[in-house]
Amino acid sequence: MSTADSSVSAMPSGEVLYIGIDLGTSQSAVATSTGIQRTVASVVGWPKDLISYKLLKKKVVIGEECLKNRMAVDMIWPQEQGVLRYRPSAPGADAGSREAEAVRHLTSYIIELAEPQPGQEIRAVIGAPARSTAEDRQAVSDAVDGLVDHAIVASEPFLVAYGLELFNNALIIDIGAGTLDLCRMHGTIPADEDQRTLAKAGNYIDNRFHMLLQEKIKDSPITLEMARRIKEQYAFVSSQKEVITIDFQVNGRPKAYDVTESLREACESILPEMILHARELIVTYDSEFQHELRQNIVLAGGGSQIRGLAEEVRSNLTEFGSCRVTAVDDPVFAGATGALKLAQDMPDSEWQRASQA
Ligand SMILES: Nc1ncnc2c1ncn2[C@@H]1O[C@H](COP(=O)(O)OP(=O)(O)OP(=O)(O)O)[C@@H](O)[C@H]1O
Ligand SMILES: [Mg+2]
Repeated sequence: MSTADSSVSAMPSGEVLYIGIDLGTSQSAVATSTGIQRTVASVVGWPKDLISYKLLKKKVVIGEECLKNRMAVDMIWPQEQGVLRYRPSAPGADAGSREAEAVRHLTSYIIELAEPQPGQEIRAVIGAPARSTAEDRQAVSDAVDGLVDHAIVASEPFLVAYGLELFNNALIIDIGAGTLDLCRMHGTIPADEDQRTLAKAGNYIDNRFHMLLQEKIKDSPITLEMARRIKEQYAFVSSQKEVITIDFQVNGRPKAYDVTESLREACESILPEMILHARELIVTYDSEFQHELRQNIVLAGGGSQIRGLAEEVRSNLTEFGSCRVTAVDDPVFAGATGALKLAQDMPDSEWQRASQA
């Protein structure tokens, strides 16, 4: 973990607003000690021209409003592969650039969603990819500087584990859009050797599926957005027997295509690396506790909704003995609620002391 500020005042607890933030590549989620739970698509847009400005009546649009008007705006997704595109400390960083502005707009919007009241002290825990660099985490702290009083940046899958109270002998696999993060819990704050961040996650599936659809359906233009929407509705790995047929517009008329194999291939494309790293984290664990670790394998993130995934992971790991693989009940808020819980549990002294984790 890394902190943005270490001077914590001893305010009465009613005057502290605790916020858990999952700053995601595709979607961010926020949960607060006042019971708010909200999400926003992690995208910022600027009207392209006068007409777009007249239409939107705003200089900047954020989240779903931006996606809904995507033809009228220049869009920036402030995160790439799970980390912020703009790092103030990077050589040549331009604080006036669109990337810098996008980061600022998105983080301000997320804090607004938390509805802080005047005079409240804000303490935020924010998720970052498991193996993000110190610079990546610093960029997150910098992005909320001035918006919150104190910020701690922690590994996303660790926050999911914390929220589920899986403190010991558990393996979390968080399948996001930009990154797939693995984290093994062993009764203490996980170290680097307990965590992995892989680049093949949801966006990788989308690109692969998009490419396969374009190869298959030559008589209709297919966008990446369309591929993602189909994936989010039907995503599956091996065990499903159903046939997935989608209507595409060809010369103004719907034409049905069987996309089952393309979707299966795209969804399964993230499996080999994911299994390889899960396996490594299991076999390098203290052998006395490996059995228990294998009983607590938890899938999180939007990608945990791929049908058949838990069973596929289980069957690929049973060579070492029995395994139990489950998916979190709430993939949207598991990270943010874990972050909120950590923020609330952290004693004042820890808010002061917390440094690298
Ligand atoms: N039903 C579904 N089946 C499969 N994938 C899905 C489903 N719903 C959402 N996804 C995918 O989950 C991903 C988003 O998950 P999540 O919100 O956990 O990611 P993120 O936090 O934005 O990204 P990251 O953690 O990489 O920064 C996207 O790739 C999205 O397409
Ligand atoms: Mg995420």
